[in-house]
Amino acid sequence: MNMQRIETKSGNFNMNNYGETYQNFNWDEAKSNFSWHTTGKVNIAYEAIDRHAENPDKADQTALIYSAPDREEKLTFTDLKQSSNQFANVLKKHGVEKEDRVFLFMPRSPEFYAAFLGILKVGAIAGPLFEAFMEQAVRDRLEDSEASMLVTTPDLLERVPFNDLPHLKKVVLVGESDQKGEAYIDYHAEMKEASKSFDVEWVDLEDGMLLHYTSGSTGKPKGVYHVHNAMLQHYQTGKWVLDLKEDDIYWCTADPGWVTGTSYGIFAPWLNGVTNLVRGGRFSPEQWYETLQEKEVTVWYSAPTAFRKLMSAGEDIVKEYNLTNLRHVLSVGEPLNPEVIAWGMSALELRIHDTWWMTETGGQLICNFPALDMKPGSMGKPFPGIVASIIDNEGNELPPNQMGNLAIKAPWPSMMRAIWKRPEKYESYFLNGWYISGDSAYKDEEGYFWFQGRLDDVINTSGERVGPFEVESKLIEHPAVSEAGVIGKPDPERGEIIKAFITLNDGYSESEELLEEIRQFVKKGLSAHAAPRELEVKDTIPKTRSGKIMRRLLKSWELGLPTGDVSTLEE
Ligand code: PRX
Repeated sequence: MNMQRIETKSGNFNMNNYGETYQNFNWDEAKSNFSWHTTGKVNIAYEAIDRHAENPDKADQTALIYSAPDREEKLTFTDLKQSSNQFANVLKKHGVEKEDRVFLFMPRSPEFYAAFLGILKVGAIAGPLFEAFMEQAVRDRLEDSEASMLVTTPDLLERVPFNDLPHLKKVVLVGESDQKGEAYIDYHAEMKEASKSFDVEWVDLEDGMLLHYTSGSTGKPKGVYHVHNAMLQHYQTGKWVLDLKEDDIYWCTADPGWVTGTSYGIFAPWLNGVTNLVRGGRFSPEQWYETLQEKEVTVWYSAPTAFRKLMSAGEDIVKEYNLTNLRHVLSVGEPLNPEVIAWGMSALELRIHDTWWMTETGGQLICNFPALDMKPGSMGKPFPGIVASIIDNEGNELPPNQMGNLAIKAPWPSMMRAIWKRPEKYESYFLNGWYISGDSAYKDEEGYFWFQGRLDDVINTSGERVGPFEVESKLIEHPAVSEAGVIGKPDPERGEIIKAFITLNDGYSESEELLEEIRQFVKKGLSAHAAPRELEVKDTIPKTRSGKIMRRLLKSWELGLPTGDVSTLEE
């Protein structure tokens, strides 16, 4: 097989004239697919669900297949319309209004999706939190967003510091609980009483719908604010990149606590009227292959870490399953190694299509379309209507094959519209009309983009974005830790792992037990994916004269690389 280039196949998007479509495509064309195009009444939840429920040909089509080890359920578009209406009525009854923040902190389940859509239907802003978050992570996000309501499960409630959150008025509990009182709402009891009809709150395209918290290199996680207008991009990329057709069974493996799990685990499939599979439970190669086989999945969106794990489980396992329904596979979140693509060609007999985007971009921007010749190792080309380039630090475009800042001409439909309560942070993303991604890349003569790395200290471990500052802050809360510096260390399976350098306070000495205790401390305080896999005790942590931790230097030490310019290093 020629790994230089993998040839085109056909898809919804006719790539034969990529150039022409690219030149001529205008986001206005996408608008004609929505009812607000004619009615002027907008709500993304209406477009994703109710519109299909009102169509006699689609009303009884399965919208959601929920499959977990202990629970199997199928819900039609009508079912989802009704359950989200019920939840919207519950929210109204308890005083939730347009633009209020309602957070969700629970595993994927049919209740999650009813609640998420119900929040959007009242015009409120949904804030999904990953179920593995521990108290500090939950607290930071609820505090910053000033959420007035939270939907969670009795099990997870103990990680919610309810009494310390003055803005949080009520908690909806999904599941049996002894927790009683004004502030607690019993999900199942209230849903039973609630009407299945609801007058959707019509909003403006620029009204908010979603807050996703994500990490930068400094400070606490920031609230990335998305608006209803994003539906244009979710719909169109769903059609042309995911290549969704109405009889597809689509599986996106991402949790809705991350942006992939909302943009492409909720919006893109349902805006395209496609059956969406949600799988609960943990990763295991056997169970994932079984899911692909049993559910007859046709389109599958996952991440390099998962593919690498499947790859290391060996090709013999794959042969035990019938995966003939699968026709299109995509990847996001980290660099997709050419060897993983080669594995896909051999084990799945399919190309794995890389897609590049970010929490802030709300949707795919640079992609390998089904009908684009693929160059393994490249992220592909900009989506039609998107202008991407490589620019220098002054905002000038660089010629092909020169490495620089990967930048996108602003705006596009799904671009974030704010960083919650931090306008100066938001502004700092833009230069000369370009959105600066923080990634470095180059573009070849044929217009393909090649990812090179992050330009800041943000860590990408198993496709999850971790801010070093957040981990460092937690580490120094431990009584034994004096100072901490955290970096991403390259790892063949996870992309990067988190490595922490620490200094110890007087009276503590290094031991296996102590290091394990510190690791557990971060895991229990923040989340498992933020806990350092490696901890190393140092005498000092290198800092600049202004007191900033020099993570770049720590990384050079770790990798045995030249240390570069250390003129700002403190004495
Ligand atoms: O560094 C890039 C990497 O993930 C970052 C965005 O992370 P997050 O906001 O969590 O969103 C992930 C899912 C949309 C980017 O700045 N990244 C994302 N996709 C790719 C990638 N790196 C290489 N190749 C990709 N396809």
